Amino acid sequence: MPFYSEKVMDHFLNPRNVGEIKNADGIGEVGNPICGDMMTFYIKVRDNRIKEVKFKTFGCGAAIAVSSMVSEMALGKTLEEAMNLTNSNVAKALGGLPSNKIHCSNLGAEALHKAIENYKSKFKGE
Ligand code: FES
Repeated sequence: MPFYSEKVMDHFLNPRNVGEIKNADGIGEVGNPICGDMMTFYIKVRDNRIKEVKFKTFGCGAAIAVSSMVSEMALGKTLEEAMNLTNSNVAKALGGLPSNKIHCSNLGAEALHKAIENYKSKFKGE
């Protein structure tokens, strides 16, 4: 049984921003080729900032905790700041992950970045 930090357990047991945004401005979906888990991020953007963020994760506890932490870190950030969030920032904010669970943290920032790219491609030139 891997050791999880208190923060990981907290975000796993009480994940923030779970769900889906109807009419999201951007949607990013990623899958983990190692385990087959899936993660989708939904964002609403106003004045170049992330005004709302929700996610749906079909995955292990670490992946859920990572999604929850990414959503909390992304909220209120500019798109540029959110693009600068990295997997290792997120793992660090969670107080670290067991080494055999590091691959689970790879989805979080990637799904958020994809949602931002999706938003940018939809609203290009507006
Ligand atoms: Fe699949 Fe963790 S085991 S994301």
